[in-house]
Amino acid sequence: MKIWAGRLSKEINDKVLNYTETTNADLRLIKYDILGSIAHVKMLHKQKIITENCEKNLLSALIEIYRLNENELFTLEKEYEDVHLNIENKINCIIGDELGGMLHTARSRNDQVVNDTRLYLRSYILEIKKSLEEFSDNLLLKSTENMNSLAVGYTHVQPAQPISLAFWYTAYVSIFNRDITRLENTFNSTNCSVLGSCALSGTSFNIDRSYTQELLGFDNIIGHALDATSSRDFIIECLSTLSIIMSNLSRLAEEIITWNSFEYGTLNIDDSFTTGSSIMPQKKNPVVAELAKGKVSRVYGALMQSLAMVKGVGLGYNCDLQEDKPLLWDALDTTIQTIKILDEHIKTSSYDSQRAYDICWGSFSTITELANWLVTNKGLPFRKSHLIAGQLTNFLISKKATLKSSNIALDFLKSKDIELSEEEYFEILDPKNVMNRQVSLGSTSPTSVKIIIEELEESLLAHKEFTFRKSLVIEKAESSLLKIKRG
Ligand code: ARG
Repeated sequence: MKIWAGRLSKEINDKVLNYTETTNADLRLIKYDILGSIAHVKMLHKQKIITENCEKNLLSALIEIYRLNENELFTLEKEYEDVHLNIENKINCIIGDELGGMLHTARSRNDQVVNDTRLYLRSYILEIKKSLEEFSDNLLLKSTENMNSLAVGYTHVQPAQPISLAFWYTAYVSIFNRDITRLENTFNSTNCSVLGSCALSGTSFNIDRSYTQELLGFDNIIGHALDATSSRDFIIECLSTLSIIMSNLSRLAEEIITWNSFEYGTLNIDDSFTTGSSIMPQKKNPVVAELAKGKVSRVYGALMQSLAMVKGVGLGYNCDLQEDKPLLWDALDTTIQTIKILDEHIKTSSYDSQRAYDICWGSFSTITELANWLVTNKGLPFRKSHLIAGQLTNFLISKKATLKSSNIALDFLKSKDIELSEEEYFEILDPKNVMNRQVSLGSTSPTSVKIIIEELEESLLAHKEFTFRKSLVIEKAESSLLKIKRG
């Protein structure tokens, strides 16, 4: 018999059931629905709302379902609509509906579903955070090995100035550092208890919301029942954090693709991370990075969908909100997969610094340094030295030469009353020297990058401690809720 059979005289139309049921999306919530119920039952007994016998029976049924689920022996039946009603039904099958019927005292699916989602999501956020921390670790390792390896720095997709490979790797660690902070903020917004808010207005039962909060290891309580049951902003916040992460990964993916191209030829991606063409035998396509960029759209889509989902929904639970989970699950899965695969992608790729050296020479990428030298050593205003350096570039190009043609360059400079020896010339313009000379805070020389690495390592350590601390609280709460002996 349906739980609302008291009110409704007809069975649900099959098409309506198919349209409204959520058993598929709810599979991930089984464990968390059970955890929430265990905490709720313990609270009901502590507050003398249910008897000790009732508590014992409910807990043993919940643990039994938990075990069945662990062994993949518990399935969600479509006819029971969602995870909550499936579990309630199963409890009734195990201990009968006299005792089973007590579970839903002072509770509603409206607080239950938000509670489950928050429990599931907080752990997933930590998983994503962990994967980004590992990625950062690997990038820092590569950075330490490549402080002196030359790379090409671009603006406007044109070679701009020489940088070190470590400088490029650490740029992403610096970016991820903020992504990780955003994940921590999102974790904090998520890790709040809504249990006990009931349908929307709270309850007349003498419940103890702090007790369930504590049992579930939540940091905070949403202290307003109507807000707690209505709001999905923690999901939107999470999706916006994931969207930003994906936007950053997408930029990395784009660099992998372009740097790996024939024209750039600096980044060599491992054969195992590519696929060939069914017709063109020469092809080695960077499909992982391409797909990473493609998959960004899923996560942006989920963010837009979640914003659109809530915009016309007044306070109090509305079924519109049930659309939140499939899109959130997909965005979470996509983000963690993309982080992990790009981590591996970078780990298995190599960079050709000799090619970078040639590009730097061939593209006039060090000419800014000549302009700087003219300021420091010849007392020219920068605008004037910039003009001369620009004219020199133009002149060399007209002669089909590069900065490496020192004879032509030195003659040109002489015509501008600037004398310097060939040795001085190469000392000023060699890409490696130029890289080494950028020593201001946050710049690309090995001395500056060393400081960058130290600072990033320090903040990464603090982030990892956060992950460790929060995971520990969650683990403890979950295992102590599940350690209840069979009744
Ligand atoms: N399955 C619903 C969801 O995912 C939870 C139940 C909400 N309550 C209700 N009265 N339909 O949002």
